[in-house]
Amino acid sequence: MSGGLHQKYLDEAVGQIPGSMGILKSTWRCPSNIALVKYWGKKHVQIPANPSLSFTLSNSYTEMNLTIGKHAGNAQELEYSFEGEQNEAFESRIRGYLRNISSYFPFLSGCNIRIASRNTFPHSSGIASSASSMGALALGICSIERQILDGSKDEDFYRKASYMARLGSGSAARSVYGGFVTWGTMEDNEHTSDEFATPLAESVGPAFTSLCDAVLIISPDKKSVSSSQGHALMDDHPYAGARYLQARKNILDLRRAIIGNDIKTFIQIAENEALALHGLMMSSDPAFLLLKPGTLQVMSRIQEFRKEKGISVAFTLDAGPNVHLIYPGYEREKVLALIMDELLGYCYQEQWLDDRMGTGPEELSV
Ligand code: DP6
Repeated sequence: MSGGLHQKYLDEAVGQIPGSMGILKSTWRCPSNIALVKYWGKKHVQIPANPSLSFTLSNSYTEMNLTIGKHAGNAQELEYSFEGEQNEAFESRIRGYLRNISSYFPFLSGCNIRIASRNTFPHSSGIASSASSMGALALGICSIERQILDGSKDEDFYRKASYMARLGSGSAARSVYGGFVTWGTMEDNEHTSDEFATPLAESVGPAFTSLCDAVLIISPDKKSVSSSQGHALMDDHPYAGARYLQARKNILDLRRAIIGNDIKTFIQIAENEALALHGLMMSSDPAFLLLKPGTLQVMSRIQEFRKEKGISVAFTLDAGPNVHLIYPGYEREKVLALIMDELLGYCYQEQWLDDRMGTGPEELSV
């Protein structure tokens, strides 16, 4: 258990940057992740209503370059660019985030903060850019703090980065680690917490060492419900209680399936979670219908395909219409053939993204 990390991090907070330190830099490549057991519903402050389980991607990442330097005075100056251009929406989210974490990182006041960020995947593609970008930013800030303290990047470093990433976006807490990751307290595991994510400690069955994710872009349109709005819909959702129990059962069963190489149970739970997430959105007030005809066609084609050919492939969904096909590496040839021969027709301009499980973030330079 965390035992009051909030107070610990406040107590450890580093004040002024020593005058001799000059310009400090850190560049991180932080991947996004796809949730199999969904985080949907939260309490203040960024505390999930149920534990979630995801795996971290490999090719879909944010690369963020962070430069900070002292200037005269106490104000904080932020220069933010996304793919070489100013982006007001992202900049104001980052400004708000820096404000929220300022008591943990007092050294950031009185600094020029320059952030240059880029993503390897398109916006609104069904891949969470807030997970990878808030993960990259939290890692960068924690990295600069370690430079000031002359500390190493140990287990505590990643835990703190996950805690800080969570304050930017809940799902970002999970992006700080590679492979399968859980976030949220699980009664049977004292290493889990609502405040930070934990990588799955057990070794996984052979089918799960090379998991792939093919993201079929059914529609490139911007989401009609933001994550924050979506989570808020759970506050007085009539099915909230049942949902949180369902998620708690699903995460235990899914973890057991992953460790025990039980692909059948894995598929059943992954799809149950995807449909439950959209069921909750469709039954909330106001209701959100984010599925498109193409989403439904692809999902039912996957179920038929499994029945006809016995191939291990599951679908999952984020809070949008695009479909993630999750499959073990040994099914790759067959799944690629299915995409090429049958599913591309449902995709917007035949677009899809080819990704797989990755090993987690990487610091490119300090
Ligand atoms: C459906 O992490 O984007 O993708 O904490 O408000 O930033 P905020 O929400 P966010 O929510 C993700 C919701 C989800 C499921 C998941 O990733 O677990």
